[in-house]
Amino acid sequence: MYFWALMQKGDIIRGIRIETMASEGKCVAHHEGRVVFLTGGAPGDVVDAVVYKIKPRFLEARVVEITAPSPDRAEPFCRHFGTCGGCSWQHIRYETQLLYKQQQVIDNLERIGGLTLPSIRPILPSPASRYYRNRLDFSFSADGWIPPELFTPDRKASEPALGYHIPRKYDQVFDVKECHLQPDPSNQIRLAARDEAIQRNIPFFDLRKQVGFLRTLTIRSTTGGEVMVILQVTYDKPEWIEAVLQRLERDFPQITSFNYIINGKRNDTFHDLDVICWKGNPWITETMTAPESDLQLRFRIGPKSFYQTNAVQAERLYRVAWEMAALQGNEPVYDLYAGTGTIACYVARSASRVVGLEYVADAVEDARANAKLNDLQNVSFFAGDIRNLLDESFLADHGRPDVVITDPPRAGMHEDVCRMLLKARPKKIVYVSCNPATQARDLKILSEQYRLTDIQPVDMFPHTMHVENVVALQAAD
Ligand SMILES: C[S@@+](CC[C@H](N)C(=O)[O-])C[C@H]1O[C@@H](n2cnc3c(N)ncnc32)[C@H](O)[C@@H]1O
Repeated sequence: MYFWALMQKGDIIRGIRIETMASEGKCVAHHEGRVVFLTGGAPGDVVDAVVYKIKPRFLEARVVEITAPSPDRAEPFCRHFGTCGGCSWQHIRYETQLLYKQQQVIDNLERIGGLTLPSIRPILPSPASRYYRNRLDFSFSADGWIPPELFTPDRKASEPALGYHIPRKYDQVFDVKECHLQPDPSNQIRLAARDEAIQRNIPFFDLRKQVGFLRTLTIRSTTGGEVMVILQVTYDKPEWIEAVLQRLERDFPQITSFNYIINGKRNDTFHDLDVICWKGNPWITETMTAPESDLQLRFRIGPKSFYQTNAVQAERLYRVAWEMAALQGNEPVYDLYAGTGTIACYVARSASRVVGLEYVADAVEDARANAKLNDLQNVSFFAGDIRNLLDESFLADHGRPDVVITDPPRAGMHEDVCRMLLKARPKKIVYVSCNPATQARDLKILSEQYRLTDIQPVDMFPHTMHVENVVALQAAD
């Protein structure tokens, strides 16, 4: 107590050994019997760390020196490691990352859910631990972030940047020279767009003053090699828009969909704005092998459509959900939080029919188009907030499900939705989650009437703290 009372911000704690990772991606150690959350270390490291937050029950500190590196360390592969908020676990061996993700699932289900767990399957690693994403969003900034080591008082202006935001800094973007997340030609496209804009003096957006022209560049791709670009600008100046898009058209035959958006708002979201297709198709098409045959399912992805960002691993994730559902062909299925209907289409041939619920109207339009594209007549989709949509009258109108597959966003399901599932009482629920903490909270409610029978963690996002988890629930007798 005495020691803690004397501790001050800026104090250095020397020689502490990092024990494990916390769920938010920080490391955990103990000092004088109290918990210390650390940034910048790896489990197994012995470090010196500077204290920046003092709370009655814990300290927060930043590693300033690694005195003995952990055997679980890996050499970071990216030149932007430490600046960029992505791939923040790349200094830890991939096998070790997987162990921590598996443990994160167990801890959440036991501590938050208070659940007794059946044996848990080993986490499914991602087939690719780099270049696994099919979508990246880059921001233009007139006043790119300068690394502190290059900053001098007489340096007048920074360089224009096209890259990612510095973590937690809305107004600071660093120029990405190379990113290891999306396959080629993603890096070359970003560099070419930046180069063309600079050559032609097209103004980059100034995030503080909210002036300038070029705002964001989104690059989406498919496993088959199709590429979509979406350029966001503040006002309509065809000469500048075309200069950038023509350069991309000239250099990258892989781009099959060129789009732009005029956005004069204060933020970069474009779900509420018109997307103008400049050339090519207003979509790209992803494929996925159906689970019960070699049939190739096809999904059209428009500029606003959601698609799982690790497409190869998404197929394995859906297969896990399909296996857990163990459909016999005669069951009505509900697909909750259906997005663009990919899970519904994936399981449709194994079910008597599938009802998908999703609140983004555009996504529901895409879902209907996807069902048509795959010649599926036993699938229907409804738009609305599941909390309001899924009630007794909906169940009466559309039939009660035997199996529910639910895939909510990070916030999990609303308590009312969990309670409604208890009333609907399907024989089986398969719960796909990108946040084991909210999944555990929801499972606590569902466990009033359901038994947890299967757990499969899945790694969709290597080198990040995120973990996906699929569980099966069986109605208790
Ligand atoms: C994690 S995504 C899953 C999408 C889809 N299952 C897939 O695999 O691509 C969650 C989806 O839930 C939708 N959503 C979020 N809250 C919702 C709500 N309250 N009611 C209906 N849909 C919701 C989002 O728009 C998003 O499409």
